[in-house]
Amino acid sequence: MKNIPFFNYPALFEQRKDEYLDIVQDVLSRGAYIMQQDLIDFENDLAKYLGVKHAIGVADGTMALLTSLMAAGIGIGDEVIVPSHTFIASAAAIHHSGAKPILADCQEDHLIDPNSIVKLITSKTKAIMPVQLNGRVANMDLINEIATKHDLIIIEDSCQALGAKYKNQFAGTFGLTGTFSFFPAKTLGCFGDGGAVVTNSDEVAAKIRMIRDHGRDPVNGKVKMFGFNSRLDNLQAAVLGLKLKYYDEDIDRRRQIATIYHTHLNSIEKILLPPAPDTDINHFDVFQNYEIEAQDRDELREFLSQAGIGTILQWGGYMLHQYEELNLNSDLKYTEEMSKKFMLLPLHAMLKDEDVVYICKKINEFYNSKNN
Ligand SMILES: Cc1ncc(COP(=O)(O)O)c(C=O)c1O
Repeated sequence: MKNIPFFNYPALFEQRKDEYLDIVQDVLSRGAYIMQQDLIDFENDLAKYLGVKHAIGVADGTMALLTSLMAAGIGIGDEVIVPSHTFIASAAAIHHSGAKPILADCQEDHLIDPNSIVKLITSKTKAIMPVQLNGRVANMDLINEIATKHDLIIIEDSCQALGAKYKNQFAGTFGLTGTFSFFPAKTLGCFGDGGAVVTNSDEVAAKIRMIRDHGRDPVNGKVKMFGFNSRLDNLQAAVLGLKLKYYDEDIDRRRQIATIYHTHLNSIEKILLPPAPDTDINHFDVFQNYEIEAQDRDELREFLSQAGIGTILQWGGYMLHQYEELNLNSDLKYTEEMSKKFMLLPLHAMLKDEDVVYICKKINEFYNSKNN
């Protein structure tokens, strides 16, 4: 029987093992651990890749969000609109800034629904946090229009969307800040936790540089505000610098896999697929995840598991409004319905074509048996 785990960490290391080991050897032999040249180089490379003025490495994607909100002056008494279909980190960052997360509904492509945003705006709303989920950018024309009309800040949670574009503009470059996660399974992942904020604002960049380093002035070390210890490790930055060189190749491979899925699954009526690559000229998706909606989902997952195929449910199968203890608003029609059907199929750059075809064959087998 085949064994196709949902993600394959050992294969990720094997892919470029010698180069990774050379980096570890190099960085360790220089004793270059915290706020060193490799971090500066990676920040410059990332800023150049995205065409932004500043990239600031931080401890992880969650801190990228929190430092962004703090630098934007969002805090107690403010409301920030965020989709319910996201990782808890998006809402947790809002909560820890002192503001209140207000949950929006999503639409067929699983991204925030602009109509839902409009309905949630109050006099307390200070910002919108669109989540560029699964490697796809939301309709930023509509979101920008809403933000401009109501004088709202946009903080992009682009933690899942490095390299994705909307109308040829990169995820993370629409808002006051864009945020990235380098969690190991991310499209650009390091060997631990890591994150970055990008921005074109000199003022916001300077604040985030201070907040991530105990509130200290980077020039003279004098504390100017209360901050955190939230720097991106130099060793992780060195690894990320190498991986960024291969990034476009990795994205191509992800898009090829999404095309194979689409070709083999598109005719099954009982599943809803993400939009295929190149079907909408406004979107360039990087497929951080391949998230489908499947009828009889739990049975399908069990069938695939018996066939050696790993699948998962994002966020353990819960939308934010379904965490009762958090007491968040919950009248979200599409998200609620979708929560019974959403699941992720394996998609990473090390997957072989034959594995993807096998997964599709098994899904077809499952639904054919249901139809008979
Ligand atoms: C949409 C989203 N937001 C925020 C985060 C938080 O990133 P991190 O795990 O690096 O803190 C993640 C990471 O999984 C994410 O997927």
